[in-house]
Amino acid sequence: MSKYQFTESDIYLPGTDIPKNRLGIETPDLLHEVEGTLLQQAYTRFITELDPSVHFDEHYFKALHRDTYESLYEWAGLYRTVDMSKGGSLFCRAAYLEQEARRIFRELEQEQYLKQAANLTEEKFAERLAHYQSELIALHPFYELNGRITRLFFDLIAVCNDYEPIDYSQALEEGPSGLNAYVEASILCVQRADSSKLQQIILQGLRRTGAD
Ligand SMILES: Nc1ncnc2c1ncn2[C@@H]1O[C@H](COP(=O)(O)OP(=O)(O)OP(=O)(O)O)[C@@H](O)[C@H]1O
Ligand SMILES: [Mg+2]
Repeated sequence: MSKYQFTESDIYLPGTDIPKNRLGIETPDLLHEVEGTLLQQAYTRFITELDPSVHFDEHYFKALHRDTYESLYEWAGLYRTVDMSKGGSLFCRAAYLEQEARRIFRELEQEQYLKQAANLTEEKFAERLAHYQSELIALHPFYELNGRITRLFFDLIAVCNDYEPIDYSQALEEGPSGLNAYVEASILCVQRADSSKLQQIILQGLRRTGAD
């Protein structure tokens, strides 16, 4: 097995869903806290480093995952090599990850990485963001932290277009079904290739920089 192939038993502490980590943390709460701090630091750093030459390509997307979490996880920035599912949703088969990722990012490149979207209506911008976010949700390329890094990626595109990072707080609150609206929207993305609910969530969370 190559150094960069991990099976699920390499990723998780035996008999748990707690990822093995460089800090030797074994309590989920503490691990969440550390992950949260690293993510906050990443937001600050990547927003500061945004400049007009940034390309929101696959290399950048992977680098977000790697740079945010490499101090914690050995597999940061690396695509999974096992098939994964959540609930009843099977994400992209590992064997097709690379080609699917190439397809998605080629399409995004053809849309200039949505970098010149400041003149689109908010509805149209939300529609395009949801389209690509839906694709990356169905891809689910990393072992863990897909949701957070995918949202970070589109937040940076939003910031590039004079929006604030998208506010998902309502959608991420747990609903009566036990699933939050973001997960419900994700299920439609993965199982139906339908990004309309995600589009509503994004539209609700979009706010122009400097608006009250
Ligand atoms: N049942 C499901 N069907 C389809 N997609 C799902 C389902 N449950 C979760 N997801 C997607 O997987 C993501 C979670 O992936 P992962 O646990 O790797 O990342 P995370 O950063 O911990 O996510 P989050 O912070 O969103 O919970 C969710 O954000 C959602 O998009
Ligand atoms: Mg998770």
